[in-house]
Amino acid sequence: MRTYALIAILFFSALGLAQSQANYDETKVPKFTLPDVLTSFSGNPITNQTEWEENRRREILQFFEKQVYGKVPDRLDEYGFKLLEESNDAYGGKARRKQVAITLKKNKKSITYYMLIYLPKGNPTAPVFLGYNYYGNHTVTNDPNVPITKAWVMNNDSFGITDNKATESSRGIRAHRWAIEKMLDNGFGLATIYYGEIDPDKNDFSDGVHPLFYRDGQTKPKTNEWGSISAWAFGLSKAMNYLESDVNISKVFVFGHSRLGKAALWAGATDKRFAGVISNNSGCGGAALSRRKFGETVAQINTSFPHWFADSFLKYNNNERTLPVDQHQLLALIAPRPLYVASALEDQWADPKGEYLSTYHASSIYALYGKKGMTSKEMPEVDRPLQQTVAYHIRSGKHDVTDYDWEQYIKWAKNFAL
Ligand code: GCU
Repeated sequence: MRTYALIAILFFSALGLAQSQANYDETKVPKFTLPDVLTSFSGNPITNQTEWEENRRREILQFFEKQVYGKVPDRLDEYGFKLLEESNDAYGGKARRKQVAITLKKNKKSITYYMLIYLPKGNPTAPVFLGYNYYGNHTVTNDPNVPITKAWVMNNDSFGITDNKATESSRGIRAHRWAIEKMLDNGFGLATIYYGEIDPDKNDFSDGVHPLFYRDGQTKPKTNEWGSISAWAFGLSKAMNYLESDVNISKVFVFGHSRLGKAALWAGATDKRFAGVISNNSGCGGAALSRRKFGETVAQINTSFPHWFADSFLKYNNNERTLPVDQHQLLALIAPRPLYVASALEDQWADPKGEYLSTYHASSIYALYGKKGMTSKEMPEVDRPLQQTVAYHIRSGKHDVTDYDWEQYIKWAKNFAL
């Protein structure tokens, strides 16, 4: 346990140092040309939806798959879910609660993860937000009927999590990040999963979903195969198999904060069943343009979190110029579905301007479908959301998910919820 604590301290001080030494000076952003979403890798212009979907979208998707997040190596042998529990009187009778176990099987190995769902009782079917949580389903609510995750959890002294085990003391500690009652009052439900049950967030490929796919003797994914972000996206997609089968659920908006915002974007890009995508402060490898090298960079993220991306992404460390794609193209893969990107003013590490510019440069694909995106390179003012099919806000305050963020997401998602 001592060694773990020491490693954790060294890791966080290294990350802190990287954050304080990063570039936050707009005048030092390198000059760059972004690869155009509307010009194919071989230089052909893309002028309509068919060319986009059949040629350009496909080649961009394949590039992100093999060279950025990493490919899922194969199909599962079996997929199953089980409704473990259901109740009609959650949140003082406002909501129904369901808890579902999802099991993935491959090569005679399996993993099981758990989804907690709250649905508003007013309507027989409701749209839901689907999002991963960081410390276990029991942390998003004070509801005593939600079991404590048994999976490996990141230590956090202030949450009483030591030895990588969550206990009763962390119940509800992240409730402030999930405006569940607001969602319910506005006709939305929430489905949430603890991300560590798909793949524990550490540089170790012996646990989580990856080993299910290994051949004899294999200990880690191949160079262009999936890192953790891709594994988390895969988990969301399999959760969607359950959600689309639930008669009480209509549309699913996939949501994620920070590293889990990166996973939500990749899930939305790879699985068209998600009706909309929300990226909250996703930053580098999420919504932010890599070429700006503002705040966190590709080299930095690959060094601090070597397990997040495919190994093939390493060749772009300090070499963003040679990337045939940039993150606006990840956003374009979500078109024409609704997309919300949100930043926070004090979260310069995630490069708010780079996140906004991505929405701007992805908007030409939305235009191909007659959908509204961003029309100006100028960012909107702080706390002044711009909400069309592509939406963006920069809120005052820190890297976090706040009630303000949820109020915006709910208001916007209502336009697409029916
Ligand atoms: C670190 C990391 C970011 C990530 C964030 C988070 O700051 O550098 O890329 O988004 O953690 O997930 O909270």
